[in-house]
Amino acid sequence: MKRIVVTGGLGFIGSHTVVELQNEGFEVIIIDDLSNSSIEVLERIASITGILPSYEEIDLKNQNAIQNFFKKYNNIDGVIHFAASKAVGESVEKPLKYYHNNISSLVYLLEEMEANHIDHFIFSSSCTVYGQADEMPITESAPFKTAESPYGNTKQIGESIIMDTTIASDLRAISLRYFNPIGAHESAKIGELPVGIPQNLIPYVMQTAAGIRDQLSVYGGDYPTSDGTAVRDYIHVVDLAKAHTVAMSRLLKSRNKNSYEVFNIGTGKGSTVLEVIEAFEAVSNQKLNYKIVDRRDGDIIEAYADTTLANNDLGWRAQLSLKDGLASAWKWQQLLVKK
Ligand code: WQD
Repeated sequence: MKRIVVTGGLGFIGSHTVVELQNEGFEVIIIDDLSNSSIEVLERIASITGILPSYEEIDLKNQNAIQNFFKKYNNIDGVIHFAASKAVGESVEKPLKYYHNNISSLVYLLEEMEANHIDHFIFSSSCTVYGQADEMPITESAPFKTAESPYGNTKQIGESIIMDTTIASDLRAISLRYFNPIGAHESAKIGELPVGIPQNLIPYVMQTAAGIRDQLSVYGGDYPTSDGTAVRDYIHVVDLAKAHTVAMSRLLKSRNKNSYEVFNIGTGKGSTVLEVIEAFEAVSNQKLNYKIVDRRDGDIIEAYADTTLANNDLGWRAQLSLKDGLASAWKWQQLLVKK
């Protein structure tokens, strides 16, 4: 049985990926510092798959702790690295926190992987590395624009660190550039755990529908799009999770064509904010209270993926729709309130 370490494995995307890895027969060991997740998620994963993952509470900014981890767990076949701070707005206010947490921990992890001859690595990257791309759909060869935030910069820098390391060592790595992850596992036992006032659209929609928030503010109605609101590519978190098992298997079976590869993980379809609201009202059968306000600083007009490489080369394709994502997020939200 292949042994995979998942850093940030108790988080939103990490926990869904652990479930899919276990479904595929991998043995999973989770590293998480609980800074943006809950230990309850461990049992919830086990209640879905019937397998309790191994778990270590480690802050990856502590290189000695990583060294001790790899002394305790040997014969590791690969690492999937989610652990990072990811709030765009907070990164503007606290850049050093983001560069320390997202970059130092990546370097320490890669150093200890090299010391332990662990050569297979999947990195959680983001479409944010493109900024406002010039052409739609966005291909993997679109240039990096100057990052809109320190968070986005840590993803650009992270990809460069990994690429350089694959050139200089035996490391084989894949960066998955996520578009906008949404939704929850069909069991509604795991999903996006809200911390404070949601910054992202879907959690805010769900909390408005649940009566936790009074009204959704739609940031900008004057964009050059079909209805004036901004366009994004909303990818179901379960589809996204499956992309990680496919990518890790690609490396373990030496199917990668280069030592460093990148893939856009999206549906390939763009949806405006108003289209999201309309779709949510259809799946929830209730009206959403919203108003259109000024644009949010730093927002781009549109982003949706060219998924040709992911579909034809990686061999992964999104199966779930925007409505599937919204319905699962709503089911999760309704159970959250009851928990
Ligand atoms: C989506 C759309 C908003 C909230 C961010 C990160 C990106 C990635 C995904 C990590 C935009 C609009 C939002 C609200 C709104 N995260 N919106 N009212 O900004 O596309 O991407 O999350 O990798 O790095 O930047 O996602 O969900 O914040 O916004 O109208 O209350 O919804 O303006 O058009 P975004 P988002």
